[in-house]
Amino acid sequence: MERIFIGVAWPYANGSLHLGTLAGCLLPGDIFGRYHRMKGNAVLMVSGSDEHGTPITLTAEKEGVTPQKIVDKYHKEHKKNLEELAIKFENFTRTSNEFHKNVVKNFFLKLYENGYIYPKKMRTFYCENCKRFLPDRYIEGICPYCQGKARGDQCEDCGRTLDANEILMPKCKICGEEPILKETEHLFFRLSAFEEKLLEWLKDKDFWRDNVINFTLNFIKSGLKDRAITRDIEWGVEVPIPGYENKRIYVWFDALIGYLSASMEWAEKIGKPDEWKKWWVDEAKHYYFLAKDNIPFHTVIWPAMLMAHGGLNLPYDVPANEYLTLSGEQFSKSKGVGIWLPDVLSRFNGDAIRYYLSINMPEKHDTDWKWEDFIAKNNNELVAIYGNFIHRVLTFTYKNFGKIPPYSKEAEIDKETMEKVIKNFEGVGKSIESCNFKEGIKKVMKIAQIGNQYMNASQPWKLIKDDVERCKSVLHICLRIVKILAFSSAPYMPKTADKIWKMLGYKDSIHEHKWEDALEELDENEIDKPSILFEKLEIKEEPFSKIDLRVAKIIGVDEHPNADKLYVIELDVGELGKRKIVAGIKPWYRKEELIGRKIVLLANLKPARIRGIVSNGMLLAAQDNGKAVLLIPNAKEGSKIWAEGIEPSPAPEITYEEFKKLKIICKKGFVEYEGKVLQDEYGKIRIDKPVKDGSEVV
Ligand code: MF3
Ligand code: ZN
Repeated sequence: MERIFIGVAWPYANGSLHLGTLAGCLLPGDIFGRYHRMKGNAVLMVSGSDEHGTPITLTAEKEGVTPQKIVDKYHKEHKKNLEELAIKFENFTRTSNEFHKNVVKNFFLKLYENGYIYPKKMRTFYCENCKRFLPDRYIEGICPYCQGKARGDQCEDCGRTLDANEILMPKCKICGEEPILKETEHLFFRLSAFEEKLLEWLKDKDFWRDNVINFTLNFIKSGLKDRAITRDIEWGVEVPIPGYENKRIYVWFDALIGYLSASMEWAEKIGKPDEWKKWWVDEAKHYYFLAKDNIPFHTVIWPAMLMAHGGLNLPYDVPANEYLTLSGEQFSKSKGVGIWLPDVLSRFNGDAIRYYLSINMPEKHDTDWKWEDFIAKNNNELVAIYGNFIHRVLTFTYKNFGKIPPYSKEAEIDKETMEKVIKNFEGVGKSIESCNFKEGIKKVMKIAQIGNQYMNASQPWKLIKDDVERCKSVLHICLRIVKILAFSSAPYMPKTADKIWKMLGYKDSIHEHKWEDALEELDENEIDKPSILFEKLEIKEEPFSKIDLRVAKIIGVDEHPNADKLYVIELDVGELGKRKIVAGIKPWYRKEELIGRKIVLLANLKPARIRGIVSNGMLLAAQDNGKAVLLIPNAKEGSKIWAEGIEPSPAPEITYEEFKKLKIICKKGFVEYEGKVLQDEYGKIRIDKPVKDGSEVV
């Protein structure tokens, strides 16, 4: 027996989970954990909600509620989604609980006593109006490189990472005043002391994924700087040292220690408070599952923190994943691009999602989530190969025998088939052990294929008429393959595996069995009427996804030569270039008011000649009592606008009639399509002036 610790990166509790987190961290961790539990290894798998940090306080301030309220909401939602997806943790906890905070404080003190934490003065932004220091995310200003909009540590327009004090004309995000640079004292972690030790520790890690080891070595070799691990904020873990009462521990420092605190808390919960030591002090292998943006935290900073503490196990492997993209763009909560788990889970079978993400896992390079591909793999693989084989075998057995028939009359093909099946089954285990999850699920499907071929070649439906003994034997082999399929898919599709297990007449859960039990002889169980495992899916065309809405900037306005109420407007639509449109807003907006403004453009509307001038698209406005009111986007020109949860996949061209069928209305200052709010990457689309709720957008 081996001891295996599995740490899964802690998702932030400032929004719903998305498919990217599932594919990158939660699912591979779960497949690995489930497999090792079945292998009889002692698994301790932990994670939790990451509940501190400025994205959370910013959300709270924007919504006018406490940070606690935000994290309570999302922690609850995360837990529910994990259950629906059958992601099994020994402990999934949260960083705002007292137990965790105490562990963090003790860890911190230990590093302090060991001489790895020291105070240093530095200058950071301070708002004299709000009377507070401003963390990066609380600053907005102008990018010194492109003159674009800079937000704290990054420019929204050119994407460069910035040092907060490079930003031109910095503004406090809360009150808009210009902050000053003020001296403050922070505690620093002596990361620079660990360069040699880290390199030494990494020497035998030649089995790590190439991208992980290369990134890590480059990161260390380019020089490790000491890091400030306190912040001038109120939300977070208190600093356990006098004189720092107004400061909190930096969110990453606190979250990483969560791996340890969650293990300790688990031990408390099961009533054996020292049990965690079997994983952290005695011999155990530590695996961490995360996406690539988290690599340095887990391969450099956390190991250095553990070294500074002493007496605790270091990571053994960090099989970090690349990104799951949505038509090329990274899933991200803050950008609003993504497919949220609560939404996806309300529409699809969790195991079908697990299947698609396993076979399309971003292990070595980014992979793309494509709806058509998800549907195709569900229909052509899960339903047509896997589900079909199992269903054929079980219904045939149920109808003709009502129980699992014995094996009495052999044939050469039986042996060959079982050899192939067993080879693949063992391959699944090897693939999972080496964290090649994609390869593993392919072997599972291979077993189903072999099963189908065997059944087709043996034709039990003919044998039932003239050789019942052989018919029973063929079915017996098929049922053994079904059993092996149930075991081999247990780590990947845990609920489905259990369903198959029950259909084979067993009363307990397959997850309580040993992996090797898969190869044991079948019991001659009675079986119930089998049910369907996966449903065929159809793509429902979402008409709203066909339209192409973009942010456009007005760069010129002319009167229409042949009409009183019309303007001819020239637009800059970023990547789509310049456009001319005709718009009927002249009675409501003066020319000077319009120049330089951003509007919402329906970009793929079939061009139309309006009183002699061709309009290449249409601007969207709310209609309130015949009055036109413009919609206001946030992002830069050319950016896409979408309705919450509807992935745009614009048609080359749409007609005005098609567009008119979409009911887009105003509600409480925002714009909605069937209850889904219109937004761009920086937030919800607003309305220029108040309009009645229910006003239509045309
Ligand atoms: N919340 C972080 C993120 O989503 C991950 C934290 S991992 C931890 O990027 F180990 F630090 F908790
Ligand atoms: Zn301020």
